[in-house]
Amino acid sequence: MLVTSKELLLDAQKQRYAVGAFNTNNLEITHAIFRAAEAKQSPILVQLSAGALKYAGVEYLPMIVEKAARLASVPVAIHLDHGPSFEVVMTALRAGFTSIMRDASKLPYDENVAEVRKVVEACHAVGVPVEAEIGRIGGAEEHVVVSDREATMSDPDECARFVDDAGFDFLAVAIGNAHGFYKGEPQLDFGRLEAIRDRVSVPLVLHGASGIPDAQITRAVETGICKINIDTEIRNALIRTMQQFTRENPDQIDPRKVFAPCIDAMQAVVEHKMDIFRSTGRV
Ligand code: G3H
Ligand code: ZN
Repeated sequence: MLVTSKELLLDAQKQRYAVGAFNTNNLEITHAIFRAAEAKQSPILVQLSAGALKYAGVEYLPMIVEKAARLASVPVAIHLDHGPSFEVVMTALRAGFTSIMRDASKLPYDENVAEVRKVVEACHAVGVPVEAEIGRIGGAEEHVVVSDREATMSDPDECARFVDDAGFDFLAVAIGNAHGFYKGEPQLDFGRLEAIRDRVSVPLVLHGASGIPDAQITRAVETGICKINIDTEIRNALIRTMQQFTRENPDQIDPRKVFAPCIDAMQAVVEHKMDIFRSTGRV
């Protein structure tokens, strides 16, 4: 069933688990996410970036995801990931998204607040919740490219001020997490996360969660993270499986045969995340 992310994340906050937000770019990734959600009886956010909308077509992919959400036995929110502008947010609202992120974290504080407030006003008018980010998450995800030098951790006091000033619903934090593959083993700053959680009452979001060891994910969930974003590990499962399959079956040109093991591999990744996020069985 199609729901808003607010319903999902407030329950997660209350029951101390996290809902996975899984990125999709096409039909096959979408299938893998929904199959995992059904198998694990887990709520999910399916998220699309501006790049996904451009690649797969704003007329097509949201319609596929919305149809799948309406048919699903589990609650599903459709989320705009790292919304780069007011215009893209409007496009997503028109396409039926039930959750929006406006990422203006690269702007100075006052401009970030102004951009987010504008989006909050529009989204709340139609009952859609909003995620925003403060501090800068390192690494690269499509148009969001932040060098090590530019990456900055979220400041707990500034987080509290940001929530009050901009009036959004969920806060994405920078606590040592980064987009894409990590160079070494990531070390999340749990002291910082606790300090943020103590000052902020809205649900907290962890981006760049691919490659974070399970033990740190568990601790992050116990410390108050309610939404966890996964993209890279799904992409990796898709492409590595495809590479291996085509190496072993060089004459196979039926895309359905090539994609079948890729979907299985992506589903396995998503199912494992649901277990460690403790969202399995929460419907
Ligand atoms: O917004 C999407 C995520 O933060 C995904 O990060 O690609 O490192 O899993 P990831
Ligand atoms: Zn992200």
